[in-house]
Amino acid sequence: MSAEPGGVTAVAHANIALVKYWGKRDSTLILPATSSVSLTLDAFRTTTHVELLDAPAGRDEVVLDGEPLAGAALTKVLAFLHLVRSQASRTATAQAARVTSTNEVPTGAGLASSASAFAALAGAAATAYGLELGRRDLSRLARRGSGSASRSVYGGFVVWHAGDLADPAAGDLTSYAEPLPTAPELDVAMAVAVLDAGPKKIGSREAMAATVATSPYFPAWTEHTEADAAEAADAIAAGDLPRLGEIAEASAMRMHATMLAARPAVRYLAASSLAVLDAVADLRAAGVGAWATMDAGPNVKVLCEGADLDVVAAGLRGIVLPGGGAPHVLLARPGPGLRIEASAALPAGVLASGAAEEPA
Ligand code: PMV
Repeated sequence: MSAEPGGVTAVAHANIALVKYWGKRDSTLILPATSSVSLTLDAFRTTTHVELLDAPAGRDEVVLDGEPLAGAALTKVLAFLHLVRSQASRTATAQAARVTSTNEVPTGAGLASSASAFAALAGAAATAYGLELGRRDLSRLARRGSGSASRSVYGGFVVWHAGDLADPAAGDLTSYAEPLPTAPELDVAMAVAVLDAGPKKIGSREAMAATVATSPYFPAWTEHTEADAAEAADAIAAGDLPRLGEIAEASAMRMHATMLAARPAVRYLAASSLAVLDAVADLRAAGVGAWATMDAGPNVKVLCEGADLDVVAAGLRGIVLPGGGAPHVLLARPGPGLRIEASAALPAGVLASGAAEEPA
């Protein structure tokens, strides 16, 4: 067995859910309880290089931002490589891989680093092991690393379908992401108020499981989220930002309400998050279209029109946080989907550098 010379590099960007994914119906296949809708951003990305080694599987090496990965994060990546190898049928199946990844997203700070990370890993590992997957199947594969990663396979506005609810095998085939038809005049941006760049207290996987198991609000959450996803898709197609913003903010609030009702409560929002929510309400009262969304961390992302980004960012930088000081504010606009950048020995037909996003 010889190692693939050069290996494969893939780049994927983070996405922020506007209609949230919170809760799995199958935790092995990572099938979500509901569909979700997101926006892929330009600002935060992961670059991952996968090289096959002249060593048997079991000797995988994983380096993130220059440090060997360890603990639960390493276990997730190794399980993912095992999955890719089990799907690949050629002789390289038994070879170990060296994974080298660089994250331009504050890791574990609720800025969806797992989405860009597993989308990039799916693209690089699948290509390195000779799996010839189109985007739809890449999104199904990325889903197995981290649900939200399925959406980072595409740029711009994306829907991740819950898929066939009847049985897991049908769900596995039908739970994929695809780009949403978007009105050309819809010009959006996002300001991110970074309140705590430290690691989160409880990972989304564990927090979701606790919510599903103990929150009496979970059935109501699933019932309304499917309708929210459909309405958000309509608003994106119609270019109706106020309607989209309203749905997005409501979805975030409902997700946090659902997890707050778990026993014990899952709480990611901090006093500083509420201060940002007040500032967003003030911006709206002053006539600026701005809508907040929060994920598995205290940071608040504010959706607005592209032309309003500077005024929204200035509003957020002007906040006096409960502990003193102002939030650090990052600016983002819609970003591209997964791309494969370099490979010495690409099998024919795989997604190549600069390839246009194929229709779903
Ligand atoms: O893909 P995960 O397991 O990191 O879960 C993501 C969950 C949220 O970011 C809170 C919501 C979402 O839809 O991205």
